[in-house]
Amino acid sequence: MAAEPSAASPAKPQKVWDGPTRLFHWLLVGLVAFSWWTAEEHLMTLHKASGLTIVGLVVFRIYWGFMGPDTARFTSFIKGPRAILSYASSLFKPAHQLAFGHNPLGALSVAAIILALVVQVSLGLFAMDTDGLESGPLARFVSYDMAETAGDLHEDAFNILLVLIGLHIAAIAFYLIVKRANLVGPMITGRRAHGGAGPEAGLATVPLWRFILGVVIAGGVVGLVILAGG
Ligand code: HEM
Ligand code: HEM
Repeated sequence: MAAEPSAASPAKPQKVWDGPTRLFHWLLVGLVAFSWWTAEEHLMTLHKASGLTIVGLVVFRIYWGFMGPDTARFTSFIKGPRAILSYASSLFKPAHQLAFGHNPLGALSVAAIILALVVQVSLGLFAMDTDGLESGPLARFVSYDMAETAGDLHEDAFNILLVLIGLHIAAIAFYLIVKRANLVGPMITGRRAHGGAGPEAGLATVPLWRFILGVVIAGGVVGLVILAGG
């Protein structure tokens, strides 16, 4: 997340987010909502299909965090406490610049959401409900008690995910209302109307094979889970 532009900002739209990261984000938003709804309605076949698609998305995003373009890379946005504190203390200063990609503080929320999703889907894969009627594809590899505990924790973990999503949306609203910076537009179009920090030419692209390899790896992991589930 970022703040308002500086006077020195280039006027031209600047590419900040690549297509796969944007697609990942909006598919995730739709599928997390759908997973919640299907769980509430006990539409478990749909719930598991939606959950498995999220498994694929998360595997892809972790891969993309190492192989994707600059703003998608974990090393470009996950920073130490000093950078986070220095960013937080500069938030209300006039010289504050729009970050190129996630800012150090927003990156914390991004990392927490991705981690919470890993926990959520991993527990779901091993989960079993109390009457043993519904189970994740990998539940047969653990004991009944463990699968039941995974089911309980899967339900609890969702509350943590909801809190993180709530904070995420609150932070975006804060930027819009207080800092007058619209972060949502760039997450849709990939570009921001005015610049800030980062290369004037915008985000450099990566070769297509890297994207294709990521899709193959993510699809492969989901395929293996389905095969293992029998
Ligand atoms: C299920 C709900 C949501 C989840 C799980 C979620 C998750 C995420 C994640 C993981 C990222 C990091 C993107 C990446 O680097 O891959 C992100 C960024 C972002 N999300 Fe969401 N999100 C949710 C809902 C929303 C909604 C409803 C909005 C719009 C109102 C939104 C707007 C954004 C924006 C603007 C960014 C980029 C922030 C920045 O500029 O650093 N998200 N979100
Ligand atoms: C982000 C993704 C996911 C979300 C948000 C989510 C959410 C939930 C919630 C809220 C419940 C509790 C339903 C209730 O009893 O009221 C639930 C149950 C369940 N989920 Fe998920 N889930 C996700 C992914 C998965 C995945 C990947 C699987 C396995 C393929 C899965 C399998 C199950 C099973 C078997 C249950 C029943 C367990 C029980 O009721 O104790 N879920 N899920």
